[in-house]
Amino acid sequence: KLPLLIDTDPGVDDALALLMAFDAPHHEVVALTIAAGNVGLTHTVANALKLCEVAEVDVPVFAGCDAPLLHSAPDASYVHGRDGFGDICYPPATREVEAEHATQAMIRLSHEHAGRLVVCMLGPLTNLAVALKLDPTLPQRVGRMVVMGGAVTGQGNTTPMAEFNIGFDPEAAHIVFEAFAAAGVPVEVADWEAVVRHGFLHTEVDRWLQADHPRARFYDAISRKTREWSAGLRGAHWHAADALAMALLVAPEGAVLRERRPLRVELIGTESRGATVVDWGRRSGRADNADILMTYDQTAFEALIRKALRAG
Ligand code: BDR
Ligand code: CA
Repeated sequence: KLPLLIDTDPGVDDALALLMAFDAPHHEVVALTIAAGNVGLTHTVANALKLCEVAEVDVPVFAGCDAPLLHSAPDASYVHGRDGFGDICYPPATREVEAEHATQAMIRLSHEHAGRLVVCMLGPLTNLAVALKLDPTLPQRVGRMVVMGGAVTGQGNTTPMAEFNIGFDPEAAHIVFEAFAAAGVPVEVADWEAVVRHGFLHTEVDRWLQADHPRARFYDAISRKTREWSAGLRGAHWHAADALAMALLVAPEGAVLRERRPLRVELIGTESRGATVVDWGRRSGRADNADILMTYDQTAFEALIRKALRAG
């Protein structure tokens, strides 16, 4: 099995992606490195530990950076709840976070699994950016790199042009995309706009979550508030951003259409800070550094989600 490091800010959709990863037939999750993002680091760490307990997996959890590199940014507690897991007041997990810092764990694991390590970024890119500053050779040891983030034609979900994970820490995203471009390792991108094209009817999701299994019950509870919020805001469809990135990672054969293009992160624009600027017409002369998911097999995506939830 390929070693998989997941950097995440759980987060309701992160939780679904993690459940999918724990099931992956060809990958073994070797670490969860935890970012601040959807909510503060204390909560995202506690949520990761709790999810491992619910899923009965023994994966080490490493706490990372507690804020973006340069500028503070609003969190997404209005989506995920004040604690990031729907404010259900779950009893805390009995397992504990590792002593090693997430950025150090990233570097160590990149050496231990040189050339094979698969990296999946489901939150702001702060931890990886810091790891890259500590060890710029890191991308050379990464076998595959998947990011949930960006809005590839400028239709953001937090500002008009920025998607949350990039917009929360644009400098970190810039560092990551440039470092992997320099190393010639393409970044596989599942962006917000792809997520919007791969929604599920709320009525269907509600039905899946009636399954009588601890995973489905826990997920039903933590996602209830955000599903209600999303139904009010976005209508009939529910969107699981991080789960789409994880589907691309664990079952890449489900990707029906992908496009390779140059991608850079906008840092300065008054309206466009945090945008992912894709050179669709290839006018910049830059090398293609992003492998952008356009279409994923929706039936296969549904099957992965339902299996992760044990929702037959
Ligand atoms: C991303 O932002 C977060 O709120 C989600 O967990 C996901 O990673 C979607 O834009
Ligand atoms: Ca996330």
